[in-house]
Amino acid sequence: MKTILVATEKPFAAVAVEGIRKEVEAAGHRLVLLEKYTDRAQLLAAAAEADAIIVRSDKINEDVFAAAPNLKIVVRAGAGYDNIDLKAATAANVVVENTPGQNSNAVAELVFGMAVMAARNMYAGTSGWELKGKTLGIQAFGQVGRNVARIAKGFGMEVSAVDPFCPEEVIAQAGVAPVKTVEDLYRNNAVVSIHIPATPQTIGSIGYDLITLMPKNGLLINTARKEVVDEAGLARALEARPDLKYVADVKPDNAAELEEKFPGRVFFTPKKMGAQTAEANINAGIAAARQIVAFFTDGCDRFRVN
Ligand code: 3PG
Repeated sequence: MKTILVATEKPFAAVAVEGIRKEVEAAGHRLVLLEKYTDRAQLLAAAAEADAIIVRSDKINEDVFAAAPNLKIVVRAGAGYDNIDLKAATAANVVVENTPGQNSNAVAELVFGMAVMAARNMYAGTSGWELKGKTLGIQAFGQVGRNVARIAKGFGMEVSAVDPFCPEEVIAQAGVAPVKTVEDLYRNNAVVSIHIPATPQTIGSIGYDLITLMPKNGLLINTARKEVVDEAGLARALEARPDLKYVADVKPDNAAELEEKFPGRVFFTPKKMGAQTAEANINAGIAAARQIVAFFTDGCDRFRVN
């Protein structure tokens, strides 16, 4: 019997936790729940007895590995694993996995929630614009990007995408126009939606030069990671281009400054909520539980990222 800890500062929906519990207990393991913890010491104490940990955006660093002598696997119930120190995990002999695709529809739907809100001037009562017939550029054609493309077609948008890691034929097969450069994506689309992960190569990569390429009345939507946007560059771009808007599911560090300087042109969710739906929680949480059970049953590590 293994001890599987669910450590989520931002908890899953209760129904997802029930599903995780069922998977874990049916396989003969024990579930320990640590939700809404406020102090890192709580996470370290709970990790001490864990053989496996399921997390969301919770930071899993060297201190957790040091505190968890039995730990064999950490599964990030979600897509981005920039919250986990992969080097430290490997050094501690711990497998790290994610659950790609499980929460991508939820994030994609939020893109359109935010797009409509921005297009309707944050529901301020003034006349806005419609998404139908507008150009949408998708930056990275992964699981979320593909869902965004699918939904955009329902809105009647003209969709294009750039992704250096995805063959152009794959993008074209989805009925989306492949774009060769990020600069062209920003230059030619009224709406740009960011779906790149936070990596050493992408952090700070979207700044003044790129944002100011956007056409008049451009709308930039970020439901990916705040780190990929150069926040000082963003502030300068919004200053230089009073027609641009920026909405994000990831509050930038300079949110207060942006909200004060550019009222009606920026919006930030108070807490990252792209994947905060019952469906996404169930999909990602249960996938994580099943991956852990499979790992302990037969050593399967198909979704390993380290
Ligand atoms: C992800 O990378 O899967 C999303 O950003 C969701 O993150 P969350 O689980 O913290 O909501």
